[in-house]
Amino acid sequence: MSSVKKINAATVRADFNDLTAVVHYTRAAHELGLWASERLLIERHFPDPTRPLLEAGCGAGRVTIGLWELGYRDLTAFDFAQELVDQAISLAAERQAEAIRFFWADATRVCTEHHDLVGRFGGALFMFNGLMQIPGRRRRRAALRQLFRACAPGAPLLFTTHDRDHSPTERALWRLETIRWVRGEQDPRLVEFGDRYFSDEAGRTFMHLPDRREILEDLTATGWSHTFDAMRSAVASESKAVKDFSDECRFWVAHKPTRA
Ligand SMILES: C[S@@+](CC[C@H](N)C(=O)[O-])C[C@H]1O[C@@H](n2cnc3c(N)ncnc32)[C@H](O)[C@@H]1O
Repeated sequence: MSSVKKINAATVRADFNDLTAVVHYTRAAHELGLWASERLLIERHFPDPTRPLLEAGCGAGRVTIGLWELGYRDLTAFDFAQELVDQAISLAAERQAEAIRFFWADATRVCTEHHDLVGRFGGALFMFNGLMQIPGRRRRRAALRQLFRACAPGAPLLFTTHDRDHSPTERALWRLETIRWVRGEQDPRLVEFGDRYFSDEAGRTFMHLPDRREILEDLTATGWSHTFDAMRSAVASESKAVKDFSDECRFWVAHKPTRA
């Protein structure tokens, strides 16, 4: 039996607190700001800037500060990597956005540990694939349930994922990965089929890559009603700087039903 340790929340948190990741996400928060696609979907699905919004996995504040600069004023944002939250707080001070409430929390437990958040928000966001950086489908569903609890009826949730099926190359690579899993030759640190653990300019990264059906099932299982999804390239055309920072992804919008 393999004694290799599986990737867990502590692994992911340590990777995001690592200096390489902190520099990478802090630079993006200072210099890159919102992607064109993010801005378009935020303005479309969160039309009232006075409603309270909750951002999960805010990192160094790239999206949070972007929301502030679009005129959203009732913002609460959290991340489980304290080093990134510290960077977000200092960027908010620099941009005269001290009114944003930042705190440290794990998305899989946030409402359980902060009861004051329950039902308070007119919308929630978990951007740039943060939800998919939670190892284990059960825990990703826990995070979706916690955001559901934080939101008022009718509230939208905006998030992104990769999509294993989005191109012929991806499909071919995942067919090879299927063979590895059937033979038991996959990276033993991975938790589930669809997981990847790799190193690049952002440091070490754990990422679960779902197919579209998996996310539709997870939304239904956690009470959310799916309203929209599309690949980023179909939403807006992005600058070279944004494409250098981030790969193609799928945007998702779901709503908390107005009646249970
Ligand atoms: C790819 S980064 C995106 C950061 C930022 N939203 C941005 O777009 O630049 C994903 C973020 O999700 C956070 N994250 C991952 N799992 C989390 C969890 N269980 N609870 C809270 N934050 C989490 C990471 O610490 C990281 O800051």
